[in-house]
Amino acid sequence: MAIRRVLRMGHPLLRQVARELAPGEIGTAAFRHLIADMVDTLHDYGGIGLAAPQVGESLRVALIEFRGGPTRYGELAAMPLTVFVNPEIEVLGPETAGNWEGCLSVPGLRGWVERPQHLRLRYTSDQGEARQLELRGFPATVVQHEFDHLDGRLYIDRMTDMRRLVFERELERHPP
Ligand code: NI
Repeated sequence: MAIRRVLRMGHPLLRQVARELAPGEIGTAAFRHLIADMVDTLHDYGGIGLAAPQVGESLRVALIEFRGGPTRYGELAAMPLTVFVNPEIEVLGPETAGNWEGCLSVPGLRGWVERPQHLRLRYTSDQGEARQLELRGFPATVVQHEFDHLDGRLYIDRMTDMRRLVFERELERHPP
């Protein structure tokens, strides 16, 4: 398998609406190859999520993986490596929270984004099974960020105060 180059903001593919996978496409050799490449790429770049359009495939596939414990986002429950095919989000509650989001396609920057914090997901697993998952808090933020990529959106589009778009290094030097 292979580490792919992550497309950066400005590449038009990041602004396309990706297409759904047909059931017959899930589990094929080409599909498994793409997932393996995305896992390798996520690990190499050190991210917590990656969407297929970021590696040049305009398909509705994203994966997320993060360890639990103390992080720069606070104390987190872990999310083991999970592949989401054709995901859909239903917002279940009014609560929102903000985070300093980053993106492998927007390297070096962070932006403050507020998002709903209580969701239900419906998606197809990498085994082709229909799944549901209820999420609260930071994992809800991560899935919304990743699934936005499938609609050609970047976190910057969700910002309401562009003064809170900063360089990561400066954010570390000058925590708010
Ligand atoms: Ni991203």
